[in-house]
Amino acid sequence: MKQLNIGVIGLGEIGQVHCEMLSRIERARLVCVADIDESIASTTAAQYNAESYTSYEDMLLHNDLGAVIVAVPDHLHKDPCLSAIAAGKHVLVEKPIAITIEESETIIQAADKAQVKLMVGFTLRFFPQYAHAKQTVIENGLGELVSIFARRTNLITQPDRINGRTGVMFFLGIHDFDAMRWIVNSEPVSIYCEASTSVASKYPIENETFSIIKFENGVIGCAHIGWYLPETHPTGFDFKLDVTGNKGILNLDMVHQGVAVYGPNGGHYAYMAEPLLAEDQSFVDAVLDNTDVPVTGHDGLVAVRMVLAALESIESKSTVRL
Ligand SMILES: NC(=O)c1ccc[n+]([C@@H]2O[C@H](COP(=O)([O-])OP(=O)(O)OC[C@H]3O[C@@H](n4cnc5c(N)ncnc54)[C@H](O)[C@@H]3O)[C@@H](O)[C@H]2O)c1
Repeated sequence: MKQLNIGVIGLGEIGQVHCEMLSRIERARLVCVADIDESIASTTAAQYNAESYTSYEDMLLHNDLGAVIVAVPDHLHKDPCLSAIAAGKHVLVEKPIAITIEESETIIQAADKAQVKLMVGFTLRFFPQYAHAKQTVIENGLGELVSIFARRTNLITQPDRINGRTGVMFFLGIHDFDAMRWIVNSEPVSIYCEASTSVASKYPIENETFSIIKFENGVIGCAHIGWYLPETHPTGFDFKLDVTGNKGILNLDMVHQGVAVYGPNGGHYAYMAEPLLAEDQSFVDAVLDNTDVPVTGHDGLVAVRMVLAALESIESKSTVRL
């Protein structure tokens, strides 16, 4: 059986999950990992029987490496992506593809020129619940679409975990902007966004936001994105999606997935999907079978445009056209 040799760059919260998922994919082999933190790199490498590097440039010289996953912080995506592409590796880059339009376009153009596959990690597309919403719309299960509402909120401590290095729109909102565009199957034409900094105000970034998005096909979207949940919240997240058509509605709730446990230590809600496994599997399949990646660099770029437009709208207090 042909296997894809993969390396992971950046071994923080999500990089660790990618390593775990790759170790469970039959046609993938995690051969090397890189992190500027030597102890994280060597511990992770030992756990997966992979080679450890503190420089991704050195890691890219690893023998027989076919592809990489880039999981460093948002503002650092460009350089490892470009180096990997220049070395002829296929790339799965975590969301956002980059934090500016210029950087996003540079990565996309480099991948096109080098003829390597470039996929962006929009994990929502791999949750069975969101895929079901997409499929319901494809099958015309709701009639003509009218509106779409998304909520994505995290714990109030999330900005501390990431040291306030990015705002809630790039960290969380971009997931829903992409999912909304994917499900309504139409391009965004304008965004109006209001933000509050009344919570987590230690960081001068947007952290409680409501965006109104108009799509080309007339659908109106509303996204409530924030990180204000108290630390005692049983799941640490509140993710919802409502899709309304002229013949029906779809309500998705990632908190109440049908299983709740109320024990001596409070409530516990099971997290019932392994979307990252499906995401990494689809990347491996696309590379080995030479098929299209399910989430393209262009998808990544449009989502970045949407986030930047929302941020501009917060500043200008007006609707921004895309
Ligand atoms: N798809 C999802 O659901 C999801 C979830 C969380 C994070 N993310 C994205 O994944 C990326 C990483 O986020 P995180 O929360 O895991 O961050 P993190 O801070 O937990 O980890 C980042 C890691 O990258 C390492 N690093 C930094 N510069 C490096 C370099 N030049 N070379 C090698 N390693 C380097 C750091 O030492 C750290 O270990 C971000 O872009 C984030 O938006 C996606």
